[in-house]
Amino acid sequence: MHSDQNIALRTLFVCSLLFSSVRTSTTNTLDTISPNQYIRGDQTLVSAGGTFQLGFFSPGKLTSRYLGIWYTISNEIVVWVANRETPLDDSSGVLKVTDQGVLVLLNSSNDIVWSSNSSRTVDNPVSQLLDSGNLVVKDANETNPDNFLWQSFDYPCDTFLPEMKLGWDFVTGLERYVSSWKSTEDPARGEFSLGMTPHGLPQLVVMKGAKIKTRSGSSNGLRLTGSISRPNPLSEFEFFLNKDEVYYKYRLLNKSMPSRYALNPFGIAQWFTWIENTHSWEPFFSTQQDQCEIYAFCGSYSSCNISNAPVCTCLKGFIPKSPEQWNSQNWSDGCVRNTPLSCSYNDGFFKYTSFKLPDTSSSWFDKSKSLKECKGLCLENCSCTSYANLDIRDGGSGCLLWFGDLTDIRTFESDSQDLYIRLASSELDDIEKKSKFNKKRLAGIVISSVLFLAWTLWIQNTPLELIDKSLSDSCTISEVLRCLHVALLCVQQVPEDRPSMSSVVLMLSSEVALLPPKQPGFYTERTLPDDLSRVRDLSENNFSTTLLKGR
Ligand SMILES: *[C@@H]1O[C@H](CO)[C@@H](O)[C@H](O)[C@H]1NC(C)=O
Ligand SMILES: *[C@@H]1O[C@H](CO)[C@@H](O)[C@H](O)[C@H]1NC(C)=O
Ligand SMILES: *[C@@H]1O[C@H](CO)[C@@H](O)[C@H](O)[C@H]1NC(C)=O
Ligand SMILES: *[C@@H]1O[C@H](CO)[C@@H](O)[C@H](O)[C@H]1NC(C)=O
Ligand SMILES: *[C@@H]1O[C@H](CO)[C@@H](O)[C@H](O)[C@H]1NC(C)=O
Ligand SMILES: *[C@@H]1O[C@H](CO)[C@@H](O)[C@H](O)[C@H]1NC(C)=O
Ligand SMILES: *[C@@H]1O[C@H](CO)[C@@H](O)[C@H](O)[C@H]1NC(C)=O
Ligand SMILES: *[C@@H]1O[C@H](CO)[C@@H](O)[C@H](O)[C@H]1NC(C)=O
Repeated sequence: MHSDQNIALRTLFVCSLLFSSVRTSTTNTLDTISPNQYIRGDQTLVSAGGTFQLGFFSPGKLTSRYLGIWYTISNEIVVWVANRETPLDDSSGVLKVTDQGVLVLLNSSNDIVWSSNSSRTVDNPVSQLLDSGNLVVKDANETNPDNFLWQSFDYPCDTFLPEMKLGWDFVTGLERYVSSWKSTEDPARGEFSLGMTPHGLPQLVVMKGAKIKTRSGSSNGLRLTGSISRPNPLSEFEFFLNKDEVYYKYRLLNKSMPSRYALNPFGIAQWFTWIENTHSWEPFFSTQQDQCEIYAFCGSYSSCNISNAPVCTCLKGFIPKSPEQWNSQNWSDGCVRNTPLSCSYNDGFFKYTSFKLPDTSSSWFDKSKSLKECKGLCLENCSCTSYANLDIRDGGSGCLLWFGDLTDIRTFESDSQDLYIRLASSELDDIEKKSKFNKKRLAGIVISSVLFLAWTLWIQNTPLELIDKSLSDSCTISEVLRCLHVALLCVQQVPEDRPSMSSVVLMLSSEVALLPPKQPGFYTERTLPDDLSRVRDLSENNFSTTLLKGR
């Protein structure tokens, strides 16, 4: 009884201490200022949940002062700067909200060095730092963001924060985009920006000045078409598009693991996550990880494969525009059609399944059209060069058409979608013939020569080593393996084990199951090194190369 009373008293005491400290801190830390209040010197606004702070800072070793917003957990990283172009010379700046609802930053001679703006006024204007990091001007009792007079989220600096929109308001013409600092110590607008292109199907890009530097693409319902999807356990992305508005935004899945996406002064967009243990922002991933990420690195009608040497390859039916430049590894001119389109229903399409979709700046789309209608629409217009589904969920829906040159294509090993590229029908026939011819030729090579090695590699489980590099570009691995398999069956010791010519045709043109080959009949064991070198010579001979390029 006695000790219970003690505990109760102690609890009461602790509670009252806590209460008073909370009360003091709330009186000291405002999240809102009204026209009779201001922020100056070391004073700050702190958002209601304590996540963000607003105040004055000096970047690096400079003495210039800026008004900025930072995460309370680390004031070294400033996520938004008001007067990024107009620094204060000393620490005497004052932030106020006027009776008209305009935020103003005054210097020591009371001149306005920076201000917010609005086309409207309200009776009771205040400025509030929200817990999302958004600094807003609004009527005191207003909670609907649509009625805010002004918000910093409409004018991002170098940081794309959760809940921020990146994109276009087509009604007002407002573009919300991120722009890099000039240097790590100068928040002024640098040369790089991260935003959405407004033409065609909008896509997320990093720009250098007025030119695209890297392109993450548009949404296909599941992810951005231009980026390799990485599992991101930290956030959920949203791509919104209608006739009034397009935006990209994200939301944190776990509020206690803050994240931010920032564009540094060198044009690299990086994702950071706060790691409590190390008390630092750790990079999660960044764009621009290889050459193929550089916008249109391989020029038009050419694809970039980072695992290949050279990295650029003309699409099927296309040849280098400037062969000399191309052969000296200058791919910027890209490729051109080998055969002009007939611009009629006689044209056809070649289907690719492992591409980053080309730049959609000159595209057209319709959510309600099917893939079949899409093909028809493309054939109707001579400048239409390609089509695909707009949304790949649930088996695919909608129509996306490309007009003009196709650029910025790269290969993905996974995570891609079907893309249909328009070609003259003669070119398509050619591709088909060539693919059949390659199969036959491969079988021929195996039977005639390159047999001992084929069997050796087959039993070593490494038959792909047999394939000429240039052949491997034009065959799919499964087809090649099938060819080898059939070829080995053709040279079995016992005639009954050898397939008839008609079964060979069936085996090569369908997916029928094949018996495993036994040791070939004409096989005579010879010394390995000799034959290996002979085969290497053969696989690099000029004959197969000429055949492949010949038309
Ligand atoms: C305040 O800003 C105005 C306008 O930019 C400028 O002309 C004036 O010199 C500044 N005053 C001081 C004390 O820096
Ligand atoms: C507000 O200022 C920004 C940047 O200076 C400008 O782009 C925008 O048009 C202005 N908005 C209004 C409503 O005046
Ligand atoms: C805010 O207050 C004004 C009067 O100052 C009133 O007219 C208006 O309806 C209020 N708005 C809301 C959302 O309560
Ligand atoms: C959120 O993150 C914190 C800090 O890493 C972790 O302790 C917590 O378990 C996470 N919550 C969820 C629901 O994942
Ligand atoms: C990219 O090149 C590598 C190496 O030549 C090849 O194995 C791979 O299949 C190519 N990827 C695509 C999608 O063509
Ligand atoms: C690459 O080719 C283009 C077009 O032919 C040319 O303008 C450019 O100077 C070349 N670049 C280099 C590095 O040779
Ligand atoms: C073909 O499409 C382009 C791009 O949308 C358009 O400008 C052109 O008028 C179209 N041509 C015809 C004949 O419809
Ligand atoms: C293959 O072609 C190259 C370049 O044209 C030539 O130097 C070489 O002698 C040729 N090799 C054979 C075996 O014909």
